[in-house]
Amino acid sequence: MTALRPLLFAANWKMHLDPAEAREYLQRFLAAVAPRSGRELWFFPGSVAIEASAQACRSRADIRIGIQDVHWEPKGAFTGAVSVGMARGAGASMALVGHSERRHVFGESEADTRKKVRALLDAAMGIVLCVGEKLEERERGETGAVVLRQLAAAIDGLAKEELSRLVIAYEPVWAIGTGRHATPADAADVHRVIRGHLTARGAPTNTILYGGSVNLSNIRALLAEPEINGVLVGGASLDPERWAEIVETNA
Ligand code: 13P
Repeated sequence: MTALRPLLFAANWKMHLDPAEAREYLQRFLAAVAPRSGRELWFFPGSVAIEASAQACRSRADIRIGIQDVHWEPKGAFTGAVSVGMARGAGASMALVGHSERRHVFGESEADTRKKVRALLDAAMGIVLCVGEKLEERERGETGAVVLRQLAAAIDGLAKEELSRLVIAYEPVWAIGTGRHATPADAADVHRVIRGHLTARGAPTNTILYGGSVNLSNIRALLAEPEINGVLVGGASLDPERWAEIVETNA
């Protein structure tokens, strides 16, 4: 791992932890985990807990807070949606885009994902772009094609310098919240496909994360793959002591 690409542990809390719970969680987590060079810790709380989370972590340069989803318009009549500017105002410096739950539960299209990427780049916010195949697509041997289609659609038209600002998260849909995870070798194969596409587009150094049922028993093997630059974790990040143990793993 080079200094330019720190090992990244990203926690996606999904629809868990209200502001008071987030504050208490972070108090316990910060007491257990000291900053370490070459490692970054990112948290994606629910929108209403972003401000409390950002305040709780303000003394820690190794920690960043992000939002789980944004709308691409700066403002307007979009009931329930949060703009990039609103997220930033609450203390988020980055966003997840195209998470499988947004795509498959809420029906987000690839065109929507692209617009979100554009809006975040224009606002100089960080982006974690999520891609991943469904089980039936994997069984049909379409994993590489699906992941590349999602990636290409989201980054269409981006300049090299813009593209190099994205973090990509490979999260196979069948591995999310199911207890089934991709083998480290399978995940690394897909990471190589993603890396190949980015390199061909002139952006060879992006951080690429793996997500999907990451936990204490598989983290070491996943991070032992040089292609895996970090992890994006849901369920196993919800308990502060358990997440502390995972981020303290030495690959
Ligand atoms: P789990 O770690 O609960 O499988 O969730 C993964 C995920 O969707 C992170 O964004």
